[in-house]
Amino acid sequence: MSKPLVSIIMGSSNDWEIMSQAARQLKDFDVAYDARVISAHRSPDLLFDYIADVSAQGVQCFIAGAGGAAHLAGVIAGKTTLPVLGVPVPSRYLKGMDSLLSTVQMPKGIPVATFAIGEAGAANAGLFAIAMLAMSDAALAQRLTEYRKKQAVMIAETVLPVLP
Ligand code: RP5
Repeated sequence: MSKPLVSIIMGSSNDWEIMSQAARQLKDFDVAYDARVISAHRSPDLLFDYIADVSAQGVQCFIAGAGGAAHLAGVIAGKTTLPVLGVPVPSRYLKGMDSLLSTVQMPKGIPVATFAIGEAGAANAGLFAIAMLAMSDAALAQRLTEYRKKQAVMIAETVLPVLP
């Protein structure tokens, strides 16, 4: 199996339902990824070791998904200069607003590119990682263009029902 170009990290196995959307996009575009459950607060030492290991293997960016006080993406960004794409995972009581704010509101100097709450954000983080990789991979760029064309055709061919 080829070495992962993208690392997907999530704080809990309960985040996989959302974060699998990022993995789905990468798989559909044949981009090798590594997906792990590692928590910034439950297993910080493992997180630091993993970031060092996977960076040495040639990973190009991180996609981090977490819910609640979602500091995972920010902590990763503090340990690497590789791009970190943050996905706020919906939370039980605040419906992901807590995850969104704690991922997007990074203090100046350590950026996290933050996506929408939930499935759309996870899928878009995957697509954004693909777009970054496509800057130095013409075949991947071509596939991304085709993917966009399909969406345009789908919209153009949409017919609304006629009202009685
Ligand atoms: C975060 O806490 C995880 O990212 C998860 O979204 C949230 C709740 O974790 P669990 O209690 O469901 O494992 O660390």
